[in-house]
Amino acid sequence: MSAIRQTSRILAIETSCDETAAAVVENGRTILSNIIASQIDLHAQYGGVFPEVASRKHVEVIHPVVEQALVEAHMGLDDIDCIAVTRGPGLVGSLLVGVNMAKGLALARHKPLLGVNHIEGHIYSLWLTDQVDEIEFPLLTLVVSGGHTELYLMVDHGRYQHLGGTLDDAAGEAFDKVGRVLGLPFPGGPAIDRLAAAGNASAYKFPRAVMEDGFNFSFSGLKTAVARQIKHFDKARIPVEDVAASFQTAVVDALVTKTERAALAYGATAVHLAGGVSANRELRRTMTERLKVPVRYPSPILCTDNAAMIGAAAHWHFINGRRDNLNIDVIPSLQLV
Ligand code: KG4
Ligand code: ZN
Repeated sequence: MSAIRQTSRILAIETSCDETAAAVVENGRTILSNIIASQIDLHAQYGGVFPEVASRKHVEVIHPVVEQALVEAHMGLDDIDCIAVTRGPGLVGSLLVGVNMAKGLALARHKPLLGVNHIEGHIYSLWLTDQVDEIEFPLLTLVVSGGHTELYLMVDHGRYQHLGGTLDDAAGEAFDKVGRVLGLPFPGGPAIDRLAAAGNASAYKFPRAVMEDGFNFSFSGLKTAVARQIKHFDKARIPVEDVAASFQTAVVDALVTKTERAALAYGATAVHLAGGVSANRELRRTMTERLKVPVRYPSPILCTDNAAMIGAAAHWHFINGRRDNLNIDVIPSLQLV
């Protein structure tokens, strides 16, 4: 086994969905560079991520993105201790581009390779904030993104207990689908966040789907209720702000209610929000207002997909001596626990 070290300089690569990203992260906490080539404009015309288009675009830009990450960090590959890459969950064709790039670099430059779980990356985006010294376990993490809505109790570095998750649509998926029926550009989340600020959140009473027991979520009924409500209006006269605000409040209420319940049940020292939807202002505000423990969330650029979070997660595996085989494969439905 390789010698165990306490410090690290990691080149991280993330291509699980529609962002081609590379970053250099020091000691799991300091971002030396964080390059993100977003494909949002490319997919907006389809109203969602088109997998084949995504992987083709990753192939086109992965080399310059990795190169730029090294240049901005003022480093060459010789200065790097380890190559980390998202191995799953995600789109198979997209993941393959990042994993093959990482394997190639590791093999050519004799560097250790670490395959990282994308969800664990989102969780570790919190270690890239300046609140890192205050973190104590056990803490509760709510990962809310386009593909996931999951509650984990984090009992130590790399040790998680899965408490619950969505039974149907992810929270971000609900934002994107409601955005589409409201005629908003893809992805719907940021647009709804903006429009809702000018709307009346009590204009429509949408279902919360807060099941009595457990810590699971369900958002598909809410999405359907919004679509049904919109049918009552003439297309040009939809009260977009009010619908956006009422929908957003229903999502936020369900997320906060379950998170609050879990934080109390498990004696969490704090609640961490991560993933694209954690950029939502109403979610941040309501969670902070209603919970009795500190609520932390990443800066907006670290909420959505990026490679710095992958480097932060990889650090803890690296200093614990984990090294992956160079023949690792992608796992599109990789679970955290
Ligand atoms: O984490 P992420 O970049 O990708 C996945 O791993 O899925 O999350 C993207 C999701 C999209 O569904 C997008 O609509 C949502 O995050 N999102 C937001 C906001 N910003 C991004 N949802 C609500 N409010 C926002 N401000
Ligand atoms: Zn993500």
